[in-house]
Amino acid sequence: MLDDSTSAVMTNGSLLDARNLRKSFGGVVAVDGFSFTVKRGQIVAIIGPNGAGKTTAFNLVTGVHPLTSGEIHFCGQRIDGLKPYEIAERGISRTFQNLQIFGNMTVAENVMVGRHPRSKAGILSAALSLPNARAEEKRIFEVAMQNLKVVGLAHRAMDAASSLPFGSQRLLEIARALAVEPKVLLLDEPAAGLAGQETKDLAQLIYRIRDSGTSILLVEHDMELVMGVADWVFVLDYGKLIAAGTPSQIQSDKKVIAAYLGEEMD
Ligand SMILES: Nc1ncnc2c1ncn2[C@@H]1O[C@H](COP(=O)(O)OP(=O)(O)O)[C@@H](O)[C@H]1O
Ligand SMILES: [Mg+2]
Repeated sequence: MLDDSTSAVMTNGSLLDARNLRKSFGGVVAVDGFSFTVKRGQIVAIIGPNGAGKTTAFNLVTGVHPLTSGEIHFCGQRIDGLKPYEIAERGISRTFQNLQIFGNMTVAENVMVGRHPRSKAGILSAALSLPNARAEEKRIFEVAMQNLKVVGLAHRAMDAASSLPFGSQRLLEIARALAVEPKVLLLDEPAAGLAGQETKDLAQLIYRIRDSGTSILLVEHDMELVMGVADWVFVLDYGKLIAAGTPSQIQSDKKVIAAYLGEEMD
């Protein structure tokens, strides 16, 4: 599975290289021969109507679901078949379309949870409160505070996560995903439910994350956000890639307009 020698030559500079991904759930082919790449420093978007297979594509990349067929290469190595925590350790992290916040934990603790894949002491010794685990926890706390600063939530660190307004909970998820210091960050509809100004701030945050050296793969319905930030857009429809290009190419693509964008794009 890990054929480093050959795959390193074949990746063409792509950080993430998904080839011919296919995923079927019983009779439903959710992702049907979808290939896409994310290069270093890029903000790449995947768009498409509801049910097109976007979240499933994220679940394949992050190892939540095994592929039916296809290959995923990351930094020149095969990663399909690895466990989700192994993929996170290699530098891919994500947020979820449906928020996964631990409401009764503090804001800081919610971010610290994200750091554990990289923690030397690990979850077990942390649970046992071993001395070097406690030192590690302190370090993880400091990293969590830095990540909260990036998203503008450091001042809420000690509050219960459930006390944050919805838009801030979305930012908290991003802070948690940043805690593993990802090379690629996958954002699944980060603007869903956000107010206009919050979406504008989110665009600036996405740029800051990109500028700090993390590439972005974005699934999003807010076309203004997508067309504003993305360097490259892949369009899925019924699990299949129907178009790929720059935002302006996609906005004038007849197939895309016919598939679903129509009035939104006018
Ligand atoms: N775990 C699953 N089990 C069965 N079917 C699924 C599962 N996840 C997604 N699907 C199906 O796959 C298709 C694509 O869904 P999804 O990837 O969530 O689309 P999108 O994120 O583009 O809205 C849908 O038909 C959905 O019902
Ligand atoms: Mg989805």
